[in-house]
Amino acid sequence: MSSFEELAKKEFESSNKEIFPFIFEEKQYWIKKARETKPNKIQTFFHKFFPFELLIPSLYKTSKEALEFESSKLKRFETLGINVPKVSYKNEDFFVLEDSGENINAILRNKNISEKKFYFYVDLVLQELAKIHNLGLFHGGSQIRNFTYKEEKVFVIDFEESFDKNIDIKTLQYRDFLLFILSFTKIKGVEFKVNYSYIIDKYLEVSNNKEFIINLKNFAKRFIFFVWLSKKEFIKKRLGSDVIYFLDLIEILNRMDKNAK
Ligand SMILES: Nc1ncnc2c1ncn2[C@@H]1O[C@H](COP(=O)(O)OP(=O)(O)OP(=O)(O)O)[C@@H](O)[C@H]1O
Ligand SMILES: [Mg+2]
Repeated sequence: MSSFEELAKKEFESSNKEIFPFIFEEKQYWIKKARETKPNKIQTFFHKFFPFELLIPSLYKTSKEALEFESSKLKRFETLGINVPKVSYKNEDFFVLEDSGENINAILRNKNISEKKFYFYVDLVLQELAKIHNLGLFHGGSQIRNFTYKEEKVFVIDFEESFDKNIDIKTLQYRDFLLFILSFTKIKGVEFKVNYSYIIDKYLEVSNNKEFIINLKNFAKRFIFFVWLSKKEFIKKRLGSDVIYFLDLIEILNRMDKNAK
């Protein structure tokens, strides 16, 4: 057994965390333990009545299947030229990834970040997401917390989720984009307002999914009533910032009418 493998196994056994970093010869690596993936029961229930893309339940996988699925997907993406961390080692219980840098969510949430820098990262992230989509693939968990930055490159991580094979790829890509854009509604404390129109336009520009603007507008239409309601003073005071930012996004989508005829 190599000393790398030995150390990885020791780290695996001595930690009760599921995902954690360790250092080998001055280089950082991440251990990800095998664990089962489960569809969310409430989500599955609601999806029967409201077939929204966001509610598509993920498949159940045993811990071994989930590990196999994620590590193979990482290797496949790497061969296709998508920036993903290299799988350095894999066995039945866990796999080891090379470190792919700082979490983009943390970078974008830093309240001192300038607007220019913010969109520098956003552009790189969008290019990586569009690269996946333009190759006819999906991410499955494309919230900004699943992108990292290292040495001028954005990397993509966290590929556990899989879906019924009857769900078409466009639907999964649209779900990816919704998850992505909605994850920006959690950013607070930065000195400027997140420009959703910019993010949407940029994605439409770099991806082959120009028609997603229509899906987004249809998504937004369903919430018009809630936007109206949220303007009522007695309601407004009671809303959390996540909801307010979400409804901001809805309003922006409802105002964006170019390309959406
Ligand atoms: N190769 C890596 N390089 C740098 N950071 C990593 C790496 N792998 C994991 N991380 C860090 O660990 C966190 C959790 O990893 P990951 O997203 O794979 O797990 P998860 O439990 O499926 O996450 P989620 O909370 O999104 O469901 C990441 O958000 C990232 O900050
Ligand atoms: Mg994650």
